[in-house]
Amino acid sequence: MNDFSGLVAVVTGGASGIGAATASELTRRGARVAIIDRDAGAPGGHSLAVVADVSDDASVQAAIARIADDLGGIDVLVNNAGIGAAGDVSANDDDAWHRVYDINVVGIARVTRAALPWLKKSSAAAIVNTASVAATNGLPNRALYSATKGAVVGLTYAMAADHLGDGIRVNAIAPGTADTPWVQRLLAAADDPEATATNLRGRQPMGRLVTADEVAFAVANLASPRAASTTGTVLTVDGGLTTLRV
Ligand SMILES: NC(=O)c1ccc[n+]([C@@H]2O[C@H](COP(=O)([O-])OP(=O)(O)OC[C@H]3O[C@@H](n4cnc5c(N)ncnc54)[C@H](O)[C@@H]3O)[C@@H](O)[C@H]2O)c1
Repeated sequence: MNDFSGLVAVVTGGASGIGAATASELTRRGARVAIIDRDAGAPGGHSLAVVADVSDDASVQAAIARIADDLGGIDVLVNNAGIGAAGDVSANDDDAWHRVYDINVVGIARVTRAALPWLKKSSAAAIVNTASVAATNGLPNRALYSATKGAVVGLTYAMAADHLGDGIRVNAIAPGTADTPWVQRLLAAADDPEATATNLRGRQPMGRLVTADEVAFAVANLASPRAASTTGTVLTVDGGLTTLRV
């Protein structure tokens, strides 16, 4: 497939995991891809890497301006950068709540705000936000994280409505537990990593974790110009976790 030929895509959090896999998938399908990440990451599946923090408005504006300048516009935006938080509703103080919201939710607003003028000029404009199954399933010890991902879902629907008239499609992806460096870090920090890994796999009806490539494929399909009637949707890529009882 060469469905992104001639298009420029931006992927936040593109230096690792789902973001890196998405950058590679979009590149394979013909896009010129810029990643925005607070880490430089390894060179590879993208044309341009800009180090910036989605919680810092000045750095986001500079990153988007540079990408649009270097690559000649922006057609596709994948708002994927995010961080986790563990514990029940009492486990995190106000600073932690504000910090995780600032990256997972306000970060999407910042990057989108900066990219909108270019997206409005594109004839194939699409945004994909990374939510999570945590938005719609009560997972234990993920109160703050789940709240931010619920906000991402609500924000996605509102953005889709607001920018329908601008010709910008807005959708979200909701991955189940995906085998990325994020989950490897989580396992490394667990008291019993093997038991935790078994528990995470057991939660998935398919009995295995989702792969980053599977999520990337779904993100690219939502962003593709071939999905021209798809807007205001949340696509789960979760091995059946949300809807199956097997
Ligand atoms: N892995 C999972 O199980 C899973 C499941 C559902 C949703 N998600 C979501 O998918 C997205 C990617 O997760 P992943 O598993 O690939 O994680 P990851 O940790 O492998 O990658 C996240 C990337 O985001 C970058 N990042 C974090 N904060 C940033 C900031 N303030 N500014 C710029 N870049 C920043 C990191 O440097 C990293 O490169 C996240 O939004 C996460 O919530 C992950």
